[in-house]
Amino acid sequence: MIKRLLAGAVGAGVLGGLGFLYYAWYPPIATIEPPKASSFSAEQIERGRIVAAEGYCAECHTRTDNGGGPELAGDYKMETPFGAIYSSNITPDPEMGIGAWSEEALRRSLRYGVSRQGVHLIPAFPYDHFTKMTDQDISDLYAFLMTRPAVHMARRPNELPFPLSLRIFQAGWKLMFFTPGVYKPDPSHDALWNRGAYLAEGNAHCGACHTPRNLMGAEKKGSMYDGAVVDAWIAPPLNDKNPTPTTWTEDELYQYLRFGVAPLHGPAGGPMSPIPHRFLSQVPEYDVHALAHYFADVDHAAERQGHDKAALAHAMEESKKDLIGPNTLDADARLYQGACGACHYNAAPMPVLGRPELALNNALWLDEPTNLYQVMLHGLTAEEGQSGIAMPSFYNALSDTDMARIAAYLRRTRTTLPPWTDLEKKAADIRKTVKTIPVNSSH
Ligand code: HEC
Ligand code: HEC
Ligand code: HEC
Repeated sequence: MIKRLLAGAVGAGVLGGLGFLYYAWYPPIATIEPPKASSFSAEQIERGRIVAAEGYCAECHTRTDNGGGPELAGDYKMETPFGAIYSSNITPDPEMGIGAWSEEALRRSLRYGVSRQGVHLIPAFPYDHFTKMTDQDISDLYAFLMTRPAVHMARRPNELPFPLSLRIFQAGWKLMFFTPGVYKPDPSHDALWNRGAYLAEGNAHCGACHTPRNLMGAEKKGSMYDGAVVDAWIAPPLNDKNPTPTTWTEDELYQYLRFGVAPLHGPAGGPMSPIPHRFLSQVPEYDVHALAHYFADVDHAAERQGHDKAALAHAMEESKKDLIGPNTLDADARLYQGACGACHYNAAPMPVLGRPELALNNALWLDEPTNLYQVMLHGLTAEEGQSGIAMPSFYNALSDTDMARIAAYLRRTRTTLPPWTDLEKKAADIRKTVKTIPVNSSH
């Protein structure tokens, strides 16, 4: 009896394995002569430019270390918890890039995460979102990519440990975590909402940073937009778990995504900064409105807005107290006033646009002081956040103890939340992630 059961189990195992190999196997797609630029219309290339901007292709496919590299030629280093990964060259160079790829090959790579050669791609390439793109968008994107300058440049090999380095492993990952398929419009919502959802869940892959991941690096299904750590920054929750005291309304979202700064919530810093400046600034108004419209629904802005007036008045009141001057007996308040107070104070009725109100900024309201430390250590350049306005880096000017005291002081006086713990250790940890000391560092 046991023998028969065992044999059955082994048989099922073999069959399962064969089934898996069948599932995992994709044939190579034949190479083509790189298409002539004249085979695409100017309108199609222009539409493709917008699709590429909305998917930030150039962000991950342009080298930034080693002195930088040509746009879209790849070799961008991505640190993952499993080891460094380098992106591919997606210029139309037939040898190093995708010049010999047909449109069908590009479509398969975006929709199924498989290269032209039939190799399973690593989900650091967010095909789990790109899979939702329409055929039309992929076709336009193809026209845009195939008409970029070809760059003959190789990428460095990935640094993934065995067995993650085995491409078949990626097929197993897909089996567990990946559902391919074009976005399906939700008929209970209007066209603007569906456009926003299509972009957010698909090409613009907001969840790739804002949704927490499991131990296998897949986005957690039931925790969409709950907030996550990315590159030693916190990408805050975008749903009603967002802790900032005033609501992310459709207009605040629009301003933030369009101009990189929201009147109440402040600037887009760190890994968020290129999204408004480098990418969404290049796309039609309608699409930015659609994203804002969709996320205002995701965070239930309409139901939450009731408290905003009181929250704003309270924030202005607390901020004003630091205007009283350096006579205060509170040593932490004096430290804050000396380092930050000259620029960060506000009074009723509204914060001044170039002077972000810290009492309303996510940096003070998140579960960890991560983003506050990042901003203190890096500052913000004139290109980040609100265009043309900068904050100096305090990398040299403030010790870990100073940063911890300022963090504790702001959390205590500007929020109604419990104090952060282990502040000095966390300051040291975030400092270690700073690779080059910012040049705008004050002394
Ligand atoms: C978050 C970073 C990221 C973004 C954004 C991104 N990619 Fe990639 N892409 C990668 C990485 C990393 C790889 C390499 C994956 C691997 O080695 O398995 C890759 C691989 C690819 C490949 C496979 C190339 C080959 O030779 O096998 C194509 C095609 C591609 N990306 C196209 C795009 C396009 C088009 C966009 C914009 C719509 C885009 N990528 C946006 C990270 C990214
Ligand atoms: C590469 C990672 C990344 C991607 C992709 C990304 N974000 Fe962000 N986002 C962040 C980080 C990090 C922050 C925190 C920035 C800061 O505090 O200055 C942030 C902040 C935000 C905030 C402000 C939240 C708050 O409470 O202050 C909003 C709103 C936002 N992102 C929306 C979006 C939308 C919409 C998309 C897709 C169109 C998107 N993000 C894509 C990383 C990302
Ligand atoms: C010289 C003026 C100046 C000083 C001093 C200064 N800041 Fe700023 N800070 C700014 C400006 C301007 C911005 C907005 C920059 C932008 O929009 O690009 C900003 C933005 C911020 C943000 C929002 C970042 C985000 O991504 O949402 C935080 C948090 C912050 N500052 C904290 C501090 C702290 C803490 C100190 C003291 C250690 C300090 N600042 C000192 C000018 C200053």
